Amino acid sequence: MNPDELKAAVGRAALAHVPRGSVIGVGTGSTVDRFIDALGAARGLVAGAVSSSERSSARLRERGIEVLDAAAVQRLPVYIDGADEIDPAGCMIKGGGGALTREKIVADLADRFVCIADESKRVAVLGAFPLPLEVIAMAAAQVTRRLAALGARVVPRAGFVSDNGHPILDAHGLAITDPAALECEINQWPGVVTVGIFARHRAQLCLLGTPQGVQTLRFD
Ligand code: A5P
Repeated sequence: MNPDELKAAVGRAALAHVPRGSVIGVGTGSTVDRFIDALGAARGLVAGAVSSSERSSARLRERGIEVLDAAAVQRLPVYIDGADEIDPAGCMIKGGGGALTREKIVADLADRFVCIADESKRVAVLGAFPLPLEVIAMAAAQVTRRLAALGARVVPRAGFVSDNGHPILDAHGLAITDPAALECEINQWPGVVTVGIFARHRAQLCLLGTPQGVQTLRFD
């Protein structure tokens, strides 16, 4: 299977984790695009979706799926999203597409996080993929200095602002051996909107696309 076929396979496999008639959380990215395609084909499976980006909202609507505001729901049974990296505990780096803040907000509403990814995303230690941080522009220089003090090389994402209107910094070269501790630490820095470590909001399950088929990894 080529990479796109792997994404389509995990997108279809995720339908098995969608309770019929529910409102679910939907993430962002090329793998989620294929999940949305599968959801559209499974007419009437969901009552609607809370989406983590304008991009996913548009794709959901194109496929006839109602998009609800996050404020309209108190909880979601499941949130389905991709990842840039996932470690053996289900902790992830996310935000390669810049949607990390809304992704964490929707994940926080959900009882379960089901990650859909291809096997290239599976790592022993997070950090080979540059860690994204959404920041308030005024704080970017200070946050950059703090990241540099941790050993990161920081690259502002050129020409990009998030759906919330904020810049993204990509922190290269961190070996994130304790994702929960680093997430907690960076969350204390003034001006950080969201760090792309998903440890507190880690996945409970990962559907991993491999040439042998879709593998299920359970973390709970
Ligand atoms: C979006 O901001 C990210 O968190 C995505 O979930 C992540 O980049 C995975 O995207 P792909 O499915 O395109 O690899």
